[in-house]
Amino acid sequence: MQHITKAVFPVAGLGTRFLPATKAQPKEMLPVVDKPLIQYAIEEAYDAGIREMIFITGRTKRPIEDHFDMAYELETELQAAGKLELLKVVQSIKPEDMECVFIRQPKMLGLGHAVLCAQQLINGDPFAVLLADDLMVGEKPIMKQMVEQFAEWRASIIAVQEVPPEHTKRYGIVGGTHVRDRLVDVAKIVEKPAPEEAPSNLGVAGRYILTPGVLDEIRMQPKGVGGEIQLTDGIAGMLRREKVFAYCYEGKRYDCGSKEGFLQASVELALAHPQLGPGFRDYLKNLEL
Ligand code: G1P
Repeated sequence: MQHITKAVFPVAGLGTRFLPATKAQPKEMLPVVDKPLIQYAIEEAYDAGIREMIFITGRTKRPIEDHFDMAYELETELQAAGKLELLKVVQSIKPEDMECVFIRQPKMLGLGHAVLCAQQLINGDPFAVLLADDLMVGEKPIMKQMVEQFAEWRASIIAVQEVPPEHTKRYGIVGGTHVRDRLVDVAKIVEKPAPEEAPSNLGVAGRYILTPGVLDEIRMQPKGVGGEIQLTDGIAGMLRREKVFAYCYEGKRYDCGSKEGFLQASVELALAHPQLGPGFRDYLKNLEL
């Protein structure tokens, strides 16, 4: 059986929604509690059995490469000082069996174009796409849930959630027929439609498993919403030839590309943190709001 071994992380975006914090640092390096956003996405992919991480980067994104590289001086210092717990934390960022590859996206032409930059490395295999802005939390990691769906259906799987009708313009929206609980056979997918044009209220979250055919479809797409080459349009093209399923994942998504979502993630993950949680809960209770 063909497993999903590769994941694409488009991280070239400018992060303008988060200025001024993102003026000189990548938005993917903003920490929620004690880990940068990108590390949550990488860990989710790793927990799903994925070992080849393909980053689509751009200018100003060097800190992401450094984060997943060996930090020789830091590790030597920690070792010499006997701070072995911290050393373990630093070394666990990139487990031995994980491979990181970095590809530059020379021009920011859209999410579809970013994914296309990985075509040579994808090399005809099905692959995952994770958008680090979307911090996903589930008892079972969301990508793991999706890999299980892929193993069963052998077709592209897109993560979706119900969104308020007035928010359809923020998402790719799918329409189709329910084949069973949590699973929709997709007939239509539209990028950021107005509420009256949305085929349903199921919005795409930033997790995909895609068959390689999507890459040729993206290549054929004209510019879409916002003048960008859209991943959604490539998936829409693929619908003519292949089955695509939308999967209503079990868990929660935080839109960490927005300040509100980022704050919610910070508070809720701090509350759930094994060491920080209890004290932080007391602190919040005593806050005079
Ligand atoms: C992208 C996709 C969109 C999806 C969203 C999820 O949009 O194009 O279909 O619903 O991610 O976060 P973006 O948020 O990058 O504009």
